[in-house]
Amino acid sequence: MRRPNQSRYLLCLGIPSIYCGILALFIWSLWFGVNSDRDNVPSVINHLIPAGHCACQTALSFECGSCLRCASSLPDDPTPKARVYNPVYDAQNLTLNAAQCQSFFPGLFEDVRRAETFWTAKHGISMHDLNEIYLAEGMARAAVVNGQLYVVSTHARGEDHRRKILAILGSIHRALASGPDTSTLPNTEFIFSVEDKVDDVTSPHHPLWVLARKPDEQAVWLMPDFGFWAWEHGRADGKIGPYTQVVDRIRHKEVPWEEKEPRLVWRGKLSFAAKMRRALLEAARNQPWADVKEIVWKDKENFISMEDHCRYRFIAHVEGRSYSASLKYRQACGSVIVAHKLQYIQHHHYLLVSSGPDQNFVEVERDFSDLPAKMQALLDDPASAERIANNSITTFRDRYLTPAAESCYWRELLNQWAAASPHITNTITSSEYLRSGMRYESFLLLDSQKMMQFP
Ligand SMILES: *[C@@H]1O[C@H](CO)[C@@H](O)[C@H](O)[C@H]1NC(C)=O
Ligand SMILES: *[C@@H]1O[C@H](CO)[C@@H](O)[C@H](O)[C@H]1NC(C)=O
Repeated sequence: MRRPNQSRYLLCLGIPSIYCGILALFIWSLWFGVNSDRDNVPSVINHLIPAGHCACQTALSFECGSCLRCASSLPDDPTPKARVYNPVYDAQNLTLNAAQCQSFFPGLFEDVRRAETFWTAKHGISMHDLNEIYLAEGMARAAVVNGQLYVVSTHARGEDHRRKILAILGSIHRALASGPDTSTLPNTEFIFSVEDKVDDVTSPHHPLWVLARKPDEQAVWLMPDFGFWAWEHGRADGKIGPYTQVVDRIRHKEVPWEEKEPRLVWRGKLSFAAKMRRALLEAARNQPWADVKEIVWKDKENFISMEDHCRYRFIAHVEGRSYSASLKYRQACGSVIVAHKLQYIQHHHYLLVSSGPDQNFVEVERDFSDLPAKMQALLDDPASAERIANNSITTFRDRYLTPAAESCYWRELLNQWAAASPHITNTITSSEYLRSGMRYESFLLLDSQKMMQFP
């Protein structure tokens, strides 16, 4: 009987109990606001809950939309014989050479060039810089020697990490195996992380390969995410599969623009980025143009499949803990993506254009305050909305998110990385790898437990 009194005493240490009660209620409300997955948090509490990692409106946000335009204003064909990219013939072609990659996908290699320039200005990346990186959970170290992929070490916390690491290695292997000129790649080593954020695993000044970066994280190198290889949630609905399979399912099922529902759809988990996602719910509440709901995974409440998102003309995109890997799936629909100003950059974000004739998505403020006005404008002008949806398809699904573009990107990443790290190339003894290195092909055959902490 004494225990409650004691604990209250400990919490409040001399504060009159009425204030203590208020304080406890306040703390509980914040906890509730951040952790609830249901749409049951009063908006006053949503204003109070901390912004968390990615929701502050003053945060640096990425200025999208320069690359496609500057790329398209370049003189069209550097070599007169070069032909124009055609998705029907070229999208699945993994064997494009470097010059074709450049001419088919201008603007795709923007971040690779940025990182190369950054490190070259710092006199390059040395083996010492690489060895300085502590291999935390969710990281792996690999090498390319004589055009072959080797696994040096891995550190996975569980199945989620293991699957993501395998998917990244698989993508690199595919790009190497299919590339026409990969046997001439310089030997190199690199470390990548499959965690959402750089600061989940290390400080931002290391030359680490990551899935997404903030604008001020300039030392890291962006790689395409594991979902291009394949992704499964490990849940009942977890069947997602390779990105190209999602695209095939969508193509098979997608209805023409005229038949799409003229409303904005969003489904997601609220407790990732609670404040920002709740702000979307708030802005869309009771609007005739909105079908915006939280998913409660426990009972699969409000769930709709990836393909069914494409039944709507407008699809909202909100960052989660960090970037959200679902953007590429949303971009596979012939619909208009409505995204807040993004804070995390992925490798293909440079191609996003928020205005003008090439516009391929609609950008709103991070607090969604201008969402109703922007939605009204889209509804009032369906032809221009359809043009944005068409641009999204021709830019992303049919071009920059294709297997051809992805494998071009991996090879260019390896090339520019090696250009920025001659010291690593010079330090590698290829005979050692040939004699005793673990090739990717052999690594795949290990027991899954052995893959978690290799060697
Ligand atoms: C892929 O591209 C290469 C290089 O341009 C070309 O030789 C090859 O015929 C293409 N493959 C297919 C299936 O189109
Ligand atoms: C969008 O693309 C479709 C299919 O290619 C085409 O029929 C339609 O006219 C395009 N709409 C606009 C507004 O460009």
